[in-house]
Amino acid sequence: MKILLSGGAGFIGSHLAEELLSRGHTVLCADDLSLGTETNLSVLKGRRGFAFVTADLRSLRATESVFRKQRFDCVFHLAANSDIQAGERDMTLDLGRTFMTTVNLLSCMKRHGVKQLVFASSSAVYGELPGRISENSGPLQPISYYGAAKLASEAYISAFCRQCGAKAWIIRFPNVIGPRATHGVILDFVKKLKKDPRRLEVLGNGRQFKPYLHVDDLVRAILHVWGKSRGELNCFNVAGRGRTRVSRIAGEVAAASGLKGVKIRYGKSDRGWKGDVPQFDYSLDKITASGWRARLLSDAAVKKAVREIWSENR
Ligand SMILES: NC(=O)c1ccc[n+]([C@@H]2O[C@H](COP(=O)([O-])OP(=O)(O)OC[C@H]3O[C@@H](n4cnc5c(N)ncnc54)[C@H](O)[C@@H]3O)[C@@H](O)[C@H]2O)c1
Repeated sequence: MKILLSGGAGFIGSHLAEELLSRGHTVLCADDLSLGTETNLSVLKGRRGFAFVTADLRSLRATESVFRKQRFDCVFHLAANSDIQAGERDMTLDLGRTFMTTVNLLSCMKRHGVKQLVFASSSAVYGELPGRISENSGPLQPISYYGAAKLASEAYISAFCRQCGAKAWIIRFPNVIGPRATHGVILDFVKKLKKDPRRLEVLGNGRQFKPYLHVDDLVRAILHVWGKSRGELNCFNVAGRGRTRVSRIAGEVAAASGLKGVKIRYGKSDRGWKGDVPQFDYSLDKITASGWRARLLSDAAVKKAVREIWSENR
């Protein structure tokens, strides 16, 4: 298939592009390189079926020029503002990078008759719902502009499917970890320890407790549901089994560094920053029933990703 992948220079996008190419698809990555990197693209350049275009998808004209390059069968939309804290400081960031990129892609899909969309959504759409959250849980009241822009995008995608007879797969990722990370708790800890090998400051009290999913498992999940479910609008939670505390992640990073006597200092708040959801738990019944399950539990995914991120930031 001919695929347009927005956000392909990012952490998850670059892994997804690799796997799509391995499965014989052609992939055009569109990214404005605001958060994605040339390093992430270097693993893709030269591969058969791969092309890259620098484009800011907040602009309809720039998005339209990407669609004029070829006729796509499917759009994988991963471009977004992935920096939740920056979104709190400037509430137009998520509006532009997450929501408007969605609207512009939908608008071009309509004009060019593209009928399939896979959307990278997030657990952030649920806000702070208690208990095990299923795809039908509600009310959906996000506590970050990031979550709000993802939810608004989901709503537009739902309407688009009804209006244009298209199919969409909305996949609500948990915390995703692994090599080529551009952000996230593990990279943050690794960078801090590189800067000051004696101490590690943790944002929040370290008791935050969430599911972590290795990017290899996530990519398998995305391609699994895309291939399997055939409804008009398909929505899935995805995660590995179990959850991991931030204090455990800090311990893993300190251990992987090989440094002696690292002092781990915790904050007082139950959360790392405004908009951070400190604890959540997913029901995975729907994706499990479809025949997918993660190879790695949350703790094992953390252990693996810590080793990978530490070694690439050596
Ligand atoms: N990493 C996670 O834990 C996680 C969790 C839930 C959801 N997600 C979602 O998955 C997707 C990928 O996340 P990631 O972790 O790889 O983040 P990332 O920041 O590495 O990737 C996002 C990419 O989008 C690009 N981008 C941003 N604005 C753009 C614009 N206007 N035009 C074109 N490109 C633009 C960035 O340059 C970047 O390469 C995002 O939609 C994110 O919200 C990620």
